[in-house]
Amino acid sequence: MKKGLLSILFGTALVLGACGGGDDGGTDNGDSAGDNGEGATETAGAEEIYQNNCASCHGGDLSGGAGPDLTAVGADYSKDDIVDIIQNGKGGMPPQDVAEEDAQTLASWLAEKK
Ligand code: HEC
Repeated sequence: MKKGLLSILFGTALVLGACGGGDDGGTDNGDSAGDNGEGATETAGAEEIYQNNCASCHGGDLSGGAGPDLTAVGADYSKDDIVDIIQNGKGGMPPQDVAEEDAQTLASWLAEKK
């Protein structure tokens, strides 16, 4: 009885081990999908950066929250001003850890909001 159970368990482990080692060949896919967004409109990228870094304080639709409404921010600030605010913060807003390139993309998008 006991021996039989052990051999079943052992047999199962062997089968699982054999299967687990068998699918190494399939790990090389998915690379081609990572390259999108580059040629797409700048706006899509900027909005995504905004949603990831700013929406928690400025609202998902720029209408404000913990931070001020940004729907007409371009009327008050140039692109360079906005890059500066992103990188250095302003008043109650802490500096945001956004890559230089992303800050530029985001700022030019926001500077068009007038
Ligand atoms: C932790 C909350 C928070 C986050 C995250 C945040 N902000 Fe702010 N933001 C603020 C606050 C608060 C102010 C008001 C600062 C002040 O004038 O005292 C502000 C002000 C601003 C202003 C100036 C607006 C005005 O009318 O004076 C801009 C532009 C701005 N934020 C852009 C951004 C961008 C772009 C991001 C994302 C990269 C971002 N903020 C992320 C809280 C935040």
